[in-house]
Amino acid sequence: MNILSNHPLIVANWKSHKTREAAVAWFDAYEAWMASHSNLQAQVVVAPPFPALMFAANRLLKPELRQTFLAVQDLSPFPAGAYTGAVSAQNLSGFDVRFAIVGHSERRRYFHETHQEVANKVDQALQAGITPIVCLDDEYLSAQAAAINPDQLKSCIVAYEPLEAIGSGLNQPVAEVAPIVARIKEVFGNVPVIYGGSVEADNVAEYLGVCQGVLVGGASLDVKEFTGLLEKV
Ligand code: PGA
Repeated sequence: MNILSNHPLIVANWKSHKTREAAVAWFDAYEAWMASHSNLQAQVVVAPPFPALMFAANRLLKPELRQTFLAVQDLSPFPAGAYTGAVSAQNLSGFDVRFAIVGHSERRRYFHETHQEVANKVDQALQAGITPIVCLDDEYLSAQAAAINPDQLKSCIVAYEPLEAIGSGLNQPVAEVAPIVARIKEVFGNVPVIYGGSVEADNVAEYLGVCQGVLVGGASLDVKEFTGLLEKV
């Protein structure tokens, strides 16, 4: 397990946003903010698009950013080989990628990913020493878990992401999230569970009462908004 401390995991998922310049500007401001917030009680994970990965990996070598870790937003379900366009776990070696988001609902919806493909990504990640963050909604929680090698379930982090809450501003009430977190832990074992879906500065603290972290999309893009969210952790 790659969880480095008991501090909550705050995952910034940039999705397909940001130019090179915008990524540089985000890190400039983030690093300056972190330099004056060394007592932050959180582990921050940044998941940039692949073209920003090398740059982000270099930035994270800075001592101010030692509480910040790198994730990828996706990973090939195949090993290294003749799979044009895919990014394999082997391609990531040397970048100190700690986490891989797999099975995000946008991957399932727009790229038609199946539970089995997501399970194969979990396997590829774990073989490379990368902790998979498996995204799921409660409707297919059991089906997704059934596709994953039972020995690997307990090595995952699970991101509970109710579909209607993603990008909508309609975050799910914490009272509804809590029982699903419990069900995820019954199925996967006592794994860290994080919540995703319209998390922002005003609601992050509530979720950290019932989960081990949050997956933040829209509110991670603007660095001021994101550091404002971190201040509420
Ligand atoms: P959102 O995205 O914070 O913009 O709702 C969350 C996610 O898709 O992980």
